[in-house]
Amino acid sequence: MATALPQSFLDRLPEGNWTFFVRSPGRINIIGEHLDYNGGYVLPAAIDRAIYFAVEKGEGTNIRCHALDIDERATFDPLADQPTGKRWVDYLLGICRQFRLLGYEIPAFNIAFGGDLPIGGGLSSSAALEGGMAFLLNDFFGRPLDRLQLATMCQRSSNDFLDIPTGIMDQFASLHGRAGKALLLDTLSLNYEEIAIEIPDYSFILINSQVEHELPESGYKDRVRECKMALNTIQEKFPEIKHLAFNSPGKIKAVYHLSPHLQDRALYLCGEQARVEYTAKNLKESHGSSVGKFLNDSHEGQRDLYEVSCPEIDFLQSFAQWHPDVAGSRLMGGGFGGCTLNLVHDSYVEGFVEDVKRLYLRKYKIEATAIPVKIADGTEVIQA
Ligand code: GLA
Repeated sequence: MATALPQSFLDRLPEGNWTFFVRSPGRINIIGEHLDYNGGYVLPAAIDRAIYFAVEKGEGTNIRCHALDIDERATFDPLADQPTGKRWVDYLLGICRQFRLLGYEIPAFNIAFGGDLPIGGGLSSSAALEGGMAFLLNDFFGRPLDRLQLATMCQRSSNDFLDIPTGIMDQFASLHGRAGKALLLDTLSLNYEEIAIEIPDYSFILINSQVEHELPESGYKDRVRECKMALNTIQEKFPEIKHLAFNSPGKIKAVYHLSPHLQDRALYLCGEQARVEYTAKNLKESHGSSVGKFLNDSHEGQRDLYEVSCPEIDFLQSFAQWHPDVAGSRLMGGGFGGCTLNLVHDSYVEGFVEDVKRLYLRKYKIEATAIPVKIADGTEVIQA
């Protein structure tokens, strides 16, 4: 499905000889949080919010970029091997570096990019930035890489160049998405299955809490480290276990010297892996709204066992969970703030947004924002 460039993007695009355009979407994750760096299954989908890139040939050897949403410009040398210290530039530079490491030259080019994907709102704007850059470098310069190679390249760049130890879920979903389908991705083999998201009378609505606590990146890094420690300890007793997303709480409890909080982390992952499987099964069997229960359970696990929630998110989730017209609700993404994902009955969508925003403002003096999302195609070339 070829999309048109949004007028709001064209209006802001500076004069230039722009010849090539790419749409790179954000993602939601229906369920399966923190499993992608623990060898589990996840169920993300690309969405209709995206970053759009315009590309033109450049002069000299440098790459010139214009980030339209924040109206910042930067020029960088694609041969640089050290981050510049400016995050959005480093996401782009990191991708150029990956191409170079594979032996590809990077001729000069200019890009301008922007869109309707909130930055830092838990919809993976950074993965959309990386994935869009990788996709355009590949297509614009006629390189032969496929989407999976691009996704793994993006993850490597985050891990090795930017020192952010994410899994592959976000980049994979953004690059591989399909309208109306979620991707049941096995993060070990990287095989995936498309699952139709048809939930009659219900819609997914995100509520952005507008908070980010304790530097989400450092909280995330702590969890990655804890998971490694938990796995090492479990392997002392069960060397056959190769990753934490195995579904056997009994084995975790049998490792007596596993500290209580590492046990909690492992138990959450175990439960979440099972919830991904149940959710996929229910969706395939068209019992869509029954997946709400798994969303609520996922939230409970993230709050009490994995400890990646925060009071503001718990407030938003709790209101949603107990409302009869909301099938389920949970914290979505890396945690420590960001968005809740809510499965809301169509008759109550407007009322839900109004109620939740009013109560949240009263309690925290913060304006939450609502983001209705549709499941859309992954990264694509589009016409001007
Ligand atoms: C962030 C990371 C993903 C994943 C989620 C949690 O979005 O980028 O790789 O780990 O958190 O599920």
